Amino acid sequence: MTVEIDHTLEEIRRFRPSPEFAAQAVASEDLYDRAKADRLGFWADHARELLTWSKPFTRTLDWSNPPFAKWFEDGELNVAVNCLDRHVEAGNGDRVAFHWEGEPGDSKSYTYAQLTEEVKRAANVLESLGVGEGDRVAVYLPMIPEAVISMLAVARIGAIHSVVFGGFSSDSLASRIDDAEAKLVITADGGYRKGKVFPLKPTVDDAVTKSGGSVEHVLVVRRGENDIAWTDRDIWWHEARDAASPEHEAKAFGAEHPLFILYTSGTTGKPKGILHTSGGYLTQVAFTHKNVFDLHPETDVYWSTADVGWITGHSYVVYGPLANGATSVIYEGTPDTPHAGRWWEIIEKYKVSILYAAPTAIRSFMKQGRSIPQQFNLRSLRLLGSVGEPINPEAWIWYRHVIGGGSIPVVDTWWQTETGGIMISALPGVTDLKPGSAQTPIPGISVDILEENGTPVEGEGGGLLVVTEPWPSMLRGIWGDPERFKETYWEKFGDKYFAGDGARRDEDGDIWLLGRVDDVMNVSGHRLSTAEIESSLVAHPYTAEAAVVGASDETTGQAVVAFVILKESQAVLAADFTTTSEELRKHVATQIGAIARPRQVFIVPELPKTRSGKIMRRLLRDLAEGRQIGDTTTLADTSIMEVISSQVR
Ligand code: PRX
Repeated sequence: MTVEIDHTLEEIRRFRPSPEFAAQAVASEDLYDRAKADRLGFWADHARELLTWSKPFTRTLDWSNPPFAKWFEDGELNVAVNCLDRHVEAGNGDRVAFHWEGEPGDSKSYTYAQLTEEVKRAANVLESLGVGEGDRVAVYLPMIPEAVISMLAVARIGAIHSVVFGGFSSDSLASRIDDAEAKLVITADGGYRKGKVFPLKPTVDDAVTKSGGSVEHVLVVRRGENDIAWTDRDIWWHEARDAASPEHEAKAFGAEHPLFILYTSGTTGKPKGILHTSGGYLTQVAFTHKNVFDLHPETDVYWSTADVGWITGHSYVVYGPLANGATSVIYEGTPDTPHAGRWWEIIEKYKVSILYAAPTAIRSFMKQGRSIPQQFNLRSLRLLGSVGEPINPEAWIWYRHVIGGGSIPVVDTWWQTETGGIMISALPGVTDLKPGSAQTPIPGISVDILEENGTPVEGEGGGLLVVTEPWPSMLRGIWGDPERFKETYWEKFGDKYFAGDGARRDEDGDIWLLGRVDDVMNVSGHRLSTAEIESSLVAHPYTAEAAVVGASDETTGQAVVAFVILKESQAVLAADFTTTSEELRKHVATQIGAIARPRQVFIVPELPKTRSGKIMRRLLRDLAEGRQIGDTTTLADTSIMEVISSQVR
């Protein structure tokens, strides 16, 4: 099987860890040896070392009913206590848990003691609203402290959070509320984005009206101070918080108690509710956060720029850093508000030492030029991370040199919503770094690259990436749909987890990710489903048929490009393609969310189909990327691509 990769730069340099870095590194070669000698023992040791268990576990892994794994099953713990109370009890209550920076420049820092108290109060609020063990709570908030507080309060009482990214539409939110039958929604009046207040509460009102009636209350944080409508089910966060007791006794829950559901795009139109549980998840995110980011919690200031609406926000803004007692930065707004140097200003202000960001952001900073970051003091940085999409060697080198000053490690981390934590990454101070490659599975993780037929790819060929052994932070299922869980990830290769990514190994055995092999796109590091956008387009009254492809894009990695056939009754619109395609772009943004808005919508008379009626997206991708159109011999009508091409030009 061949998978294409763009080499933007022939970059063959390797970077050895500097002796100074290696001397202080948290990770060591020994981790690989220990994991190799006894993989399960390795994870059990880390689960005991990194976490505090109310009841110790005696069994590490139960894989008797694959693909349903149970890790540390007879152990009990409280995830929030592991992230908060135990640090206070260990004498670190005065350490800052996070410095929060609002987009307009207001800021607030929370120590571990203060954050613990806020979470206890919020836990009492939730309980007073009748939320209990196993209940689902939807969180639809901007990047404000209450987002973290809400997640931890939900975890503390053994309820299950479903965080929905604040950029999603009311339809998307309603379908997530319904799928999980959320009892409570936590939102804000609005949050700051690009210098303006972006209202959230009206979207929640709309979503709750559209949804099936599971929502009993909406808890509203005051942030934007924008005017909002008020209903009987609404409660102000600050009023409830002030009235709540700062004391809260936390109960321990089983290691396999559900912690959260996070919806992500798959190959069908319906997002999947990825389910994660407690003990295994927290073990792996704490382990990777410590070893991949070389965390020294007493001195480091760590910043992951991800939103809590995505898995990176769950694992590496909230759970990993707090379980490790780290000091973090959380930023509400966009990188370019009020000026293009906002990120660098934040790094200078808080003396950030570890930065974790997406290649899309790095590429857009590259475009703006180095003179912007060079106006700030970035010398506090000592480690850089990348996540969400392949980082091209050119961006890797720029990141290391312009942001990192030329000598600090850059770790490219491959993982997914489903894997819960980092799976493939260099270990800083240990691994020789190779720009563009995610390199090696972390200790305790086994992956392989397979041919379509399931045989391992020999040598340096490309193939399909699989995880060959269960891992602690693996998804435990798709909420309410065990069949889909089996079908999506396990049917193809039996007991091996099929990730949906293409990959190849180089001559040193290092892994290079080659992008998705299914109908999932990756736009700015966000996962989008072609099917979901197609069904949104088809729902518009103009549209008869639609096909969507992810076309490569210099900045965003991929961009959404749609090809639409209009209904005959709308033929008059054919005269004004520009207005029509603009209307359809807007429609997708309203239906799903702004991140899904197509870069282009082409109105075409036909779509390329095989004789069996399957749309050949490969040919549309050629067209969208301005390439020579590939082999068209399997098309039912081979002349159709000429017609479409002339239309697109
Ligand atoms: O295609 C891979 C890509 O992002 C997908 C997972 O998306 P999501 O679940 O939204 O999680 C993103 C944050 C972990 C993967 O299937 N991906 C993620 N990280 C990388 C990557 N592709 C290449 N290199 C990476 N480092």
